[in-house]
Amino acid sequence: MAAKIFKDLPGGLKMPAIGLGTGSLRNEADLERVLNAALELGYHHIDTAYGYKNEVFIGRVLKKWFSLGKLKREDIFITTKLPLPGIHQDRVELFMKKSLENLQLEYVDLYLIHHPIGVKYFGDEDNRMEIDDFDHIKIWKKMEEQVHLGRTKTIGLSNFNKRQIERIIASARIKPACLQVELHVDFQQRDLVGYCHKNGIVVVAYSPLGAPGAKRFEDRKVPAVINSDLIKNIAKKYNKSPGQIMLRYLLQKNIVAIPKSSSPERLKENISVFDFEINSEDIRSLDDLDGGETTRLTTFKSVPGIEKHPEYPF
Ligand SMILES: NC(=O)c1ccc[n+]([C@@H]2O[C@H](COP(=O)([O-])OP(=O)(O)OC[C@H]3O[C@@H](n4cnc5c(N)ncnc54)[C@H](OP(=O)(O)O)[C@@H]3O)[C@@H](O)[C@H]2O)c1
Repeated sequence: MAAKIFKDLPGGLKMPAIGLGTGSLRNEADLERVLNAALELGYHHIDTAYGYKNEVFIGRVLKKWFSLGKLKREDIFITTKLPLPGIHQDRVELFMKKSLENLQLEYVDLYLIHHPIGVKYFGDEDNRMEIDDFDHIKIWKKMEEQVHLGRTKTIGLSNFNKRQIERIIASARIKPACLQVELHVDFQQRDLVGYCHKNGIVVVAYSPLGAPGAKRFEDRKVPAVINSDLIKNIAKKYNKSPGQIMLRYLLQKNIVAIPKSSSPERLKENISVFDFEINSEDIRSLDDLDGGETTRLTTFKSVPGIEKHPEYPF
């Protein structure tokens, strides 16, 4: 495999440009199989979240790798996220500590606020979703404290829009190092990406393959772009798979990607994207696939009333 690409974050941190998404891996046996395979293949960047309910399983696998001497803590980049019930100035520390305990780690590399809108916390077994009162500036101060306390190397945002990021930057002591948002070749969010890059914020693409086959998007209005003739033809030309073209496109746009796969073959494909370059003519054809808002998949609309909230980001 050709040399990996890393993105520089503040404090000398290096984020591998391809990470493993674990969002829909919620069964321990599946997760263990996938994570072992991914680590063997050289994945050194794992994306999880308190809300995925899989941190405990990830922690167990990592512990085994550390204790066998197959991996050192500093060789792996772990991102986790403050869940919706933690998105309140009084609950950042509580949820940060819960994640560290789950993961059996002393620190994570990146802690993200999962979404700009928080809900009330009624306990882990209670799934009620009632939007809470929260204050981004106060929450960010608590996030900064987690860095000072050594619980996370750095902090960032997910699903925030430009206005919300600008407001945080205006009063931040530690600027957001990263923005994780939905991004795939037919949903490019160019303005937001341009703004982040101008401000030194690393952009991480979630659903970078357009989440083909994902059950939660069975009612999608636009067919998954990975099956389009354009991508298939470009893939044939470079002797790569359509998925590899989609990931390589993001890398060439200076965007990190965290594809999820449960298959050893596709895990291998997804990390084997460092040994070729898409030429500028083909990049332009791929640019033209952007479908704007019509191709957004994730909306968080399962939270009642979220769309009408003034901080709804989309
Ligand atoms: N911050 C947020 O709010 C947020 C929201 C959504 C997702 N995320 C993160 O982003 C990660 C990835 O997003 P995602 O899972 O929604 O979508 P994705 O990575 O774009 O797509 C995953 C789907 O693509 C299939 N796949 C994987 N590699 C493939 C390849 N090379 N060719 C064809 N199909 C392939 C997988 O099936 P197989 O498993 O069968 O290979 C799976 O069904 C999540 O796991 C999570 O960590 C974050």
